[in-house]
Amino acid sequence: MNIQIDVNRIVRELETLAGFSSTPAPAVTRVVFSEEDIRARAWFYQRCVEAGLQMREDAVGNTFARWVGSDTDSPAVGTGSHIDAIPNAGRYDGTVGVLGGLEAIRALQRIGYQPKRSIELLLFTAEEPTRFGIGCLGSRLLSGTLAPKATVAWKDADGRSLDQVRLAAGFSGDLAAVKLPQGYYSAFVELHIEQGPLLEQRGVDLGVVTAIAAPASFRIDIYGQGGHAGAVLMTDRHDAFLASAEIALALEAAARCTGAVDSVATTGVCQIFPSAINSIPSQVHMEADIRDIDESRRDKMIAALNDACERVANGRQVRVTVETINRDAPCASAPAVSEALERACQKHSFTFDRMVSRAYHDSLFMSRISPTAMLFIPCRDGVSHRPDEYASPEAIGRGALVLAETLRELSA
Ligand code: HGY
Ligand code: MN
Ligand code: MN
Repeated sequence: MNIQIDVNRIVRELETLAGFSSTPAPAVTRVVFSEEDIRARAWFYQRCVEAGLQMREDAVGNTFARWVGSDTDSPAVGTGSHIDAIPNAGRYDGTVGVLGGLEAIRALQRIGYQPKRSIELLLFTAEEPTRFGIGCLGSRLLSGTLAPKATVAWKDADGRSLDQVRLAAGFSGDLAAVKLPQGYYSAFVELHIEQGPLLEQRGVDLGVVTAIAAPASFRIDIYGQGGHAGAVLMTDRHDAFLASAEIALALEAAARCTGAVDSVATTGVCQIFPSAINSIPSQVHMEADIRDIDESRRDKMIAALNDACERVANGRQVRVTVETINRDAPCASAPAVSEALERACQKHSFTFDRMVSRAYHDSLFMSRISPTAMLFIPCRDGVSHRPDEYASPEAIGRGALVLAETLRELSA
């Protein structure tokens, strides 16, 4: 029987979800465990209950909505994504995979399909790094990539610990119980916007992701000498901001000279102290994000960053410290899962390209415990992490339909 996706319902639900934001439309800001995140989670939980799904939340707020299959002894098929949004973001990043996954399940229910393997929709906690500086917190803990004890010292910008904010959000229990065993899911599929321009530029309907880039991020602190902007001569200065500028430019150069388009590096945070117009910067806090689909190339950029920090520290007589936030391996999609996605595209005569993901996703960590693949839909001009992020109803409908077909095949 043909699956019919109710695209209008997904679009309406995306609109409602976007309303849970600390910034006015069209921007969406929904930091994990914030008031708006808690309200959004409660709203989503109710939509899953309405669909008759069996609900579970773990100690860090990962939410599991299970459509129980006839064979409860076999591992379930998983799908899902995230609903947290970085400051001043858009409404489609992550949410298309969560609400598209829910509609895929409802569409299968509407045609009377009964899964053999259960199908489980996940809402991952904190895919974005906003609150604690590291992304994919929920899927890192689920996959055992992150040890709970490593989170104990974490503090957010308000000095609150992970335990404090998760308990305040209503998630208690031992973080050690979050981890899922190898093979907990027979397959995991994530639907997501591409967050890049390639599908739209090529006029291709969908992207079947073959690999996810290896992300790494660092905190860099520079300690110089402050002083009076008028009185201190240029020859006597140890300006922390100018040191940081040299380091940022060296990092850019390292990414540009690898000869590969997949090498990217970003200095996304740069906080100057004391940040007064007539005071020489005495301290700078920077955060750098370095990625490549090739881990050795990525590591060469990291080495270049460390070399630059040492060189600038000596040259400018400032102190520079570098702390690694995360340094993850890339992942390759499981052919069995990506081929199921391709068959579903072919069944509906949707064109598709095989492609890599330079953005990281929860699938990067789910791939550590289950055969995993991702499905991309195009987003306008490739824009993401901005209020003008946009995916058309047609693209969302195609993505949800292919996801539904794939879930049907994998759960049969
Ligand atoms: O940064 C990323 O790749 C993801 O969107 N959090
Ligand atoms: Mn994102
Ligand atoms: Mn995302």
